[in-house]
Amino acid sequence: MERVPTGIDGLDDMIEGGFPRGRTVLLSGGCGTGKSIFGLQFLYKGAVDYDEPGVYVTVDERPELTRQDMLRFGWDIASLEEQGKLVMLDLTGSKIGVQTGEKYALNSALDIDRLVLKIMQTAGEIGARRLVIDSLPALGFHLKGEAEVRNMILKLTYMIRKSDLTAVLISEVPEQTPGSGPMMFSKYGVEEYVADSVILLHYLGMGTDTNRTLYVRKMRGTKHIEDIIPMHITEAGIKLVNPDEAFSV
Ligand SMILES: Nc1ncnc2c1ncn2[C@@H]1O[C@H](COP(=O)(O)OP(=O)(O)O)[C@@H](O)[C@H]1O
Ligand SMILES: [Mg+2]
Repeated sequence: MERVPTGIDGLDDMIEGGFPRGRTVLLSGGCGTGKSIFGLQFLYKGAVDYDEPGVYVTVDERPELTRQDMLRFGWDIASLEEQGKLVMLDLTGSKIGVQTGEKYALNSALDIDRLVLKIMQTAGEIGARRLVIDSLPALGFHLKGEAEVRNMILKLTYMIRKSDLTAVLISEVPEQTPGSGPMMFSKYGVEEYVADSVILLHYLGMGTDTNRTLYVRKMRGTKHIEDIIPMHITEAGIKLVNPDEAFSV
């Protein structure tokens, strides 16, 4: 199986070299756990270190703010956009019915078929190999009922399978403590079944960032690490701590 290096410091060694190529990864966690940073790091490093262009679909956060925030990690998103290695596909306007002035945007009302088409066109235009959708719940906000949301997720994942893009789909779960009842991996309870891999981020939020963790719940065709991995957000982005090293001081 071909592997896609994730660009997340420390992760590839724990999952046999990277994400399975052409598959879908569900990235889930509470608010502020680092999901967006993870997604952008996957795309930024993918473009810079591995020459793999990518598309970032943003529903909640305006691209302008993301470009600014990511400069903190030394990631010049705008420059990658100019080189045609990254597209910020802006859906924030279509949510509230305004034009945002972004070069890549879905300015019409949010419609899943139109969105799938737009992603395919954009990916084709820059020869994208990677895709991040941030986030599924935000995308489904206008849908009535879970059946429609499931339908949307099924269409998206079908498109991704056919396109050979390696995708990170960001979802959200309420804060939960491991061991306190059944774990939830997604908002709608279907995402984890259509995704080939599920990664959970957690943040205890008690001050220091040593309370961040990453957990690989499943990764098809992969012998992955089964521990809960300590994670840091540093000035260079997300870094994982090898558990063997973390506890062998
Ligand atoms: N430059 C930085 N250095 C360290 N931590 C940061 C930095 N920027 C953001 N963070 C941390 O990351 C969190 C936001 O991450 P983000 O990926 O936006 O979360 P999510 O998308 O899961 O809601 C912030 O709340 C903060 O704790
Ligand atoms: Mg986010």
